[in-house]
Amino acid sequence: AVVEHTFNVGNMSISRLCKPEKIITAVNGQLPGPTIFASEGDTVVVHMVNESPYNMTIHWHGIFQRGTQWADGPAMVTQCPVQPGGNYTYRFNVTGQEGTLWWHAHNSLHRATVYGALIIKPRGGVAAYPFTKPDEEEVVILGEWWNADVDELHVNATKTGQPAPHADNYTINGKPGASSGCADPNQTHKFELKQNKTYMLRIINAGLNTPLFFKIANHSFNVVAADACYTKPYTSDIVVVSPGQTVDALLIPDADITSISGGRYYMAVIPYNSAVNALNASDLYSLSTGSAIIEYTGGSSTSPPMLPQLPEYNDTATAHRFLSSMTALVPNKVPLNVTTQMFVTVSMGDTFCEPDQNTTCLPDDKGTIFASSMNNASFILPKTTSMLEAMYRKNATGVYTRDFPDTPPIVFDYTADASELNATLKHTFKSTKVRTLKYNETVQMVLQNTRLVSKESHPMHLHGFNFFVLAQDFGNYNETTDPAKFNLVDPQERNTVAVPTGGWAVIRFIADNPGMWFMHCHFDSHLDFGLGMVFEVEDGPTPETKLPPPPSDLPQC
Ligand code: C2O
Repeated sequence: AVVEHTFNVGNMSISRLCKPEKIITAVNGQLPGPTIFASEGDTVVVHMVNESPYNMTIHWHGIFQRGTQWADGPAMVTQCPVQPGGNYTYRFNVTGQEGTLWWHAHNSLHRATVYGALIIKPRGGVAAYPFTKPDEEEVVILGEWWNADVDELHVNATKTGQPAPHADNYTINGKPGASSGCADPNQTHKFELKQNKTYMLRIINAGLNTPLFFKIANHSFNVVAADACYTKPYTSDIVVVSPGQTVDALLIPDADITSISGGRYYMAVIPYNSAVNALNASDLYSLSTGSAIIEYTGGSSTSPPMLPQLPEYNDTATAHRFLSSMTALVPNKVPLNVTTQMFVTVSMGDTFCEPDQNTTCLPDDKGTIFASSMNNASFILPKTTSMLEAMYRKNATGVYTRDFPDTPPIVFDYTADASELNATLKHTFKSTKVRTLKYNETVQMVLQNTRLVSKESHPMHLHGFNFFVLAQDFGNYNETTDPAKFNLVDPQERNTVAVPTGGWAVIRFIADNPGMWFMHCHFDSHLDFGLGMVFEVEDGPTPETKLPPPPSDLPQC
């Protein structure tokens, strides 16, 4: 079947946190934007009409885009953005994938308010779920809210070289909830649940910069999928979800409507702050909780809802337990014959200021501009042509170079306090480097967090593929002893891995999808500062394994 939508991206007037109404950019006047429901094998067609004053693109987070590479969406990687007044039709198949994914703007900070869920049901419907059939389903989309204008925040961050300030609050289905200190009940999302029914929550972290702890008072979860890949049912009283990730969890109900809370419970999120070197948690994240209310039918509608016991902001042990305990539902076909080995540092650092960066620093200033890097290369988007068009036209000149390094320039103690380290490690240059892969190569990538500035758990997202997470742990990766920790039987399959803070994760995937595939930190502030790289995957041997020509309405720069 064909699932067709029109997305009008434009102004929306909205009030949050008891502030006067302000204008945000949103799809069809909704926050979150519309949910797309499809079944495995369907074709999704979205006509995007840009009525906003900004350049805009939409990315379909987690969709492979086989044969529809021009619909992936990251600005200047697979397309020039749609200019104000323009439009573009995204057309892709959802074949061989099912579960909870999502969509978001992929230009500047616009995904702060331009996002929504993309749900792919199995062909056989609910009956085909490989776990206890839920009676009902709820989309729970977690976000961040700024009182300021996000576009201005972005422009200022680029000018000053300092990160944009943290969100003013977290949201559940677009609303911050009562715990934000604003008592307006219209700003609290309410889930009305029936007793003795099984609910499946489709939890998405659409926030810009914050991993979240998610809890519901008096309830626990049976996690059955992550990033639209089924997991062995995993019972937990907490869900940990980093930006870009999704978790499907059956709600194990405990709805005692005669209890003091009258069957009313808070669902709440707080940030997981994995960083060291921050003076305190509030330097990085708003310490507000975001909340919603769960109310069971037959219960009270006025009793104060019961509050969940939330972990500490820096509870890395709890985050790590959740993120590393999941395994695939059934044994995976993990490729064993690795053809490309990469060891890649993911770092915060600073950069040599560049005159073309639209910054206020002097051209020979060092270390005044915040930067992130992978293997000491700080990624910057090209300005005149999208990378995919340059690849298709076989003319990379002036757009990108093929010298992304497989190893860091210097081997050092990555997770030690780096104050003594050579400045060359901290200072990077902006560049647009890709790693070119032959069709069907098997890539293994060690992602090593560093402590050059601050160690932190970076959610690393790969476009165009899922990957297997073979192992993850703290400290420096040891290539002699750590392969013994690899799960080659039933590792989790994901599109976004939260690399442990001051630690590493090893991922593996088969490059059987030609095109330009962005890999980047799903913290928007880090992506802005260069924490990304791109895989250029060459054509395969058959017509259906070659990059197709661009659609006729592909936006031009
Ligand atoms: Cu969900 Cu490149 O991002």
